[in-house]
Amino acid sequence: MCGIVGFVGNRPCSGLLLEGLSRLEYRGYDSAGIGLLGPDGLVIRRAVGRVAALASLVPESEHTVGLGHTRWATHGGLEVRNAHPHCDRTGRIAVVHNGIIDNADALRARLDPTGAAFISDTDTEVIAHLIAQAYTGDPMAALQQAIGHLQGTWGLVVAFADHPGRLFVARYGSPLVLGFGDDEVFVASDAQAIARWVDQVVHLEDGDQLEIRQGMFASIACRAVPFHAAEEADMGVHRCFMVKEILEQPRVLTNALVGRVSDRGVQLACLVDHPSMRDVSSVVLLACGTSFHAASVGARLIERVAHIPAVAKLASEFSTDGPMVDPRALYIAVSQSGETYDTLEALRRAKGCGAATLGVVNTVDSSIAREADAGLFVHAGPEVAVASTKAFTAQIATLGALALGLAGKPESGVAVAVRKSLMALPDAVESTLERLRDSAAVTMACRWIVDANYALFLGRGPSRHVAEEGSLKLKELSYVPCDAYAAGEMKHGPIAMLKKGTPVVVVVPRDEHRTHMLANIAEVRARGARVIALCEPDDVEVARHADLVLPFDSTHSCLSPVLSVLPMQFLAFRAAELLGLDVDKPRNLAKSVTVA
Ligand code: F6R
Repeated sequence: MCGIVGFVGNRPCSGLLLEGLSRLEYRGYDSAGIGLLGPDGLVIRRAVGRVAALASLVPESEHTVGLGHTRWATHGGLEVRNAHPHCDRTGRIAVVHNGIIDNADALRARLDPTGAAFISDTDTEVIAHLIAQAYTGDPMAALQQAIGHLQGTWGLVVAFADHPGRLFVARYGSPLVLGFGDDEVFVASDAQAIARWVDQVVHLEDGDQLEIRQGMFASIACRAVPFHAAEEADMGVHRCFMVKEILEQPRVLTNALVGRVSDRGVQLACLVDHPSMRDVSSVVLLACGTSFHAASVGARLIERVAHIPAVAKLASEFSTDGPMVDPRALYIAVSQSGETYDTLEALRRAKGCGAATLGVVNTVDSSIAREADAGLFVHAGPEVAVASTKAFTAQIATLGALALGLAGKPESGVAVAVRKSLMALPDAVESTLERLRDSAAVTMACRWIVDANYALFLGRGPSRHVAEEGSLKLKELSYVPCDAYAAGEMKHGPIAMLKKGTPVVVVVPRDEHRTHMLANIAEVRARGARVIALCEPDDVEVARHADLVLPFDSTHSCLSPVLSVLPMQFLAFRAAELLGLDVDKPRNLAKSVTVA
């Protein structure tokens, strides 16, 4: 993934680069580095870990040109020698790169069969050597020639010690934007990283290769679009972004639904502008990770409410499986960031086959928002914590509204019930959060899970996706091994994991699956495992069979995941806190996954 920032101007830039990099840390935080370019050549500083660790190494300096990088490791371990910028053998060409060079091994072998010339294990260093090999004084020609050898994806910024005052950039498959301030030019992986300093941006396109220097705006102004900084997220009184984002959910859901779902019915601009989207033969939702879990709930909502066959597919498989694309179907990319590489590729594939596409995204100016035929924004506001929480519930609510929109008029009994339940969701979420925020039961459940160093999550129907989401959240935040299964599958294998005291988290709303879930609970208890039941507060029957109850308010069964996921979010967050881990930035992860 990685984040890139570069600057050419007439004021000292090291502080600007560091600030830009901190805003890009959501793209990776394995290491960070900076290169400052001046008449005396290049000054490079690199550090393993966060941008904060790098900041202490960067000298006060008058350099007015520089480039920086924050890394999510693909090739090579978390060591300083693998941090960007990477240089050629002379140290006079420095490269920062976002993307993956698929043929790096072959190029490396061709450039230096002994490997002795390479300092790092990265694919990026190959690019620096290729540029050096092609360089005879013309930086642009050398960059173009080097790129001719590459297979894969890249957003590149290159500095040449021979050419202070200029940077060279190229894009193929990894986003890059140019931003223009007062006689200064920025380049970055996303516009928000440089939002404070620019008022016009140009989104580079695949194949773009250009030089950036002061005063270049005139030559590229035809592609510039005015730009405004998005709402800044701050932690407020909270101890981390994740808690803030969990507690924001009532307001977030109101924002997702306001103007769309009301007593009068449902009004969605995307369906007004694209009425043919109502006539599709089926719906395919494409997403990854938490968004895939929301999309899976959404597919059930669309089938149940709109009676249109709907299925959620993992975008990470869809983009490479070569699946059949039905041009009469509607393909919906569901993504918080709107930049997930696999989801974007899946969307492009569907679009390329002539199908209608819709982006259900949170980030308005994102690639998916720009490339889909129509957009339906979830309005969750900036989500900073790496583990997604409020985007998940906002995505389900938005997909619920879409299901109602696709169902059209006259409303069926189910549609009326779902619409009313959607309108009541913000209050139900508020009340559930009140039950959970200081809950001793959540703390106790976390202790059991942490002590056992394992948990099994079970659910049926829409609650299966909540079990999967609970397991994902716990894994990514606490690193506790855990599994999630459709409860009916437990006896086909996972039951072997159970022994005395094993924590089993069961999701049991009052829906058509409840009787079978009660049977599964009995089977779990018979093996001496501990049952942590997520159920409605007045469900005494489930409570009687559980060792612990984590309550969530009742709603229509199709929407119960919006509420039953809340205890899961608290479980994961508290487990991480209990273990003294970084809640907002878990290890190995990045907020936006922009590589395949
Ligand atoms: C998990 C999480 C990830 C994302 C996934 C897709 O907490 O946040 O699993 O859901 O990387 O990201 P988006 O929604 O930006 O496409």
